[in-house]
Amino acid sequence: MKFVLASHNRNKLRELREILDELGVEVVLQSELGLDLEPEENGTTFADNALIKAKAVMEASGLPAIADDSGLCVDALGGAPGVYSARYGGEGLTDQQRYALVLQGVAGQFPRTCRFECAVACCFPDGSVLTAQGKCEGTVAFTPMGEGGFGYDPIFFVPRLKKTFAQLTPEEKNAISHRGQALRSFAGQLAEFLKNQTENS
Ligand code: IMP
Repeated sequence: MKFVLASHNRNKLRELREILDELGVEVVLQSELGLDLEPEENGTTFADNALIKAKAVMEASGLPAIADDSGLCVDALGGAPGVYSARYGGEGLTDQQRYALVLQGVAGQFPRTCRFECAVACCFPDGSVLTAQGKCEGTVAFTPMGEGGFGYDPIFFVPRLKKTFAQLTPEEKNAISHRGQALRSFAGQLAEFLKNQTENS
């Protein structure tokens, strides 16, 4: 079965292919199908936004579509940046400028607890929907550390490992990250879904 990933991001495609490979499903990027739609992510939760994207791309392509949405939620900031993580502080800022805003916001605050959250949704043309979530708990580091990763990784400190996400190898991050957890949970559900379909056909 062929699936479309509602994204233009090749790194996300690679990650998803690695996880879904053993299910024997093919995944292509929406841009590979010539779909350049950018549905407005106006949901109030990661799950809402993942569903909005997956549904729009499923309807445009006629194929089952997978989407994810993720971000950083900081308790001392009332859950911000949350669903606004990619545009926190406005358009045109660098990752560094965005995480500097978070550091500024939590300065002098306690506790500095936060979490990365990820939601995955998959919409099928017959109306079936699969959803999965992942969460990784941490604290906002006092200063950015590490060179790896992207986005808020340099300020996301994992107390158990005494390292930020940016100081982990991609494999170490994937093993505990919100996205890794959500994708593995999704893969498990998809395997079950495909098995039931085969049995009922
Ligand atoms: P999206 O899910 O691709 O829309 O990502 C939303 C935003 O959340 C990204 O632009 C990053 O700023 C942030 N984000 C999501 N996941 C991560 C992560 O694993 N590390 C660092 N930042 C992340």
